[in-house]
Amino acid sequence: MKILVTGGAGYIGSHTVEALQKKNFEVLVFDNLVYGHKEAVSCPLITGDLLKKKEVEAVFKKNRIDGVVHFAAYALAGESMTNPAKYFENNLQAGLNLLETMVKYEVKQIVFSSTCAIYGYPEKLPVTEEEEKKPVSVYGESKLMFEKILNWYDRIFGIKNVCLRYFNACGASLEGKIGEDHEPETHIIPLAMKVALGQREKFTLFGEDYRTKDGTCVRDYIHVSDLASAHIKALEYLFKNGESNFFNVGTGSGYSNKEILERIKKISGVDFKVEIGARRPGDPDAIYADNRKIKKILGWEPQFSDLETIIKSAWNWHRANPQGFNQ
Ligand SMILES: NC(=O)c1ccc[n+]([C@@H]2O[C@H](COP(=O)([O-])OP(=O)(O)OC[C@H]3O[C@@H](n4cnc5c(N)ncnc54)[C@H](O)[C@@H]3O)[C@@H](O)[C@H]2O)c1
Repeated sequence: MKILVTGGAGYIGSHTVEALQKKNFEVLVFDNLVYGHKEAVSCPLITGDLLKKKEVEAVFKKNRIDGVVHFAAYALAGESMTNPAKYFENNLQAGLNLLETMVKYEVKQIVFSSTCAIYGYPEKLPVTEEEEKKPVSVYGESKLMFEKILNWYDRIFGIKNVCLRYFNACGASLEGKIGEDHEPETHIIPLAMKVALGQREKFTLFGEDYRTKDGTCVRDYIHVSDLASAHIKALEYLFKNGESNFFNVGTGSGYSNKEILERIKKISGVDFKVEIGARRPGDPDAIYADNRKIKKILGWEPQFSDLETIIKSAWNWHRANPQGFNQ
């Protein structure tokens, strides 16, 4: 089986590529390297842009693709509120170019990177897949819109999709070869590790007056290797003629920002400086997944998403690669 992975040079994509290879899938990555790293890619890499339809077509013309995993997107919620066109274009038009090419070459299976950001401020916790969809950023809206587009491409052309709604991706490969290297970085764990490594003077926490146990935001942290295994389960499900479906991918419980920072201090052995800043717009108090559906239908179980494994794997990678992939 040959799988095309768009955005496979990025953080979650590169970890999923390694997992696919371990399961003996043949893998091809298509990435424009705007945010990805060629050093992270352990399979053939085609450097190209999904916004350029001819470049997408060339891939399908040259390769017999059996299924697609679509990670490529812009994912900075804050930036999406100052530059909405950038997000609607890349997260919708680029995806449409992919889908149109799939129609032309009769590729019928796609796994899509969706997000818990489609729920906005959830009314009930843990969040089920049926929770009302009220994104509070253009980023979240663009992902919700693409889920709807996928469903029309199923109804009209029979392309089956699985939308995986990730909660907070984190951690690094347990073998230590690849990890998280975003530029700009906005995620709490890699940012705190830069402080622990002395690359930043202090860590600024976005508010401590949320309605949570210690006043800081609570999130559901899911190890990137567990996300990778969810993609494999999703592909296997589609190849067994599974109908289009959507799943939360999270652990079902949350950690507060303060808990994360304390564990990083403990594991790194560095008591770095934390200051309290203003709230960041668009942050719900707490969000964590009801993951019963993916467990039941795909038979997926998180294996590496305890806080110790998350922080240790991330710390090992950041300590060994303090400049990320640009050593
Ligand atoms: N990181 C998280 O916590 C998280 C949570 C929920 C959803 N997601 C989604 O998961 C996916 C992967 O996230 P990530 O953290 O690995 O991001 P990432 O930025 O590391 O990876 C995205 C990759 O897509 C590539 N790309 C972007 N636009 C492209 C285009 N037009 N053509 C070709 N390549 C393009 C980038 O170069 C990058 O390598 C994204 O769709 C994101 O929205 C991430």
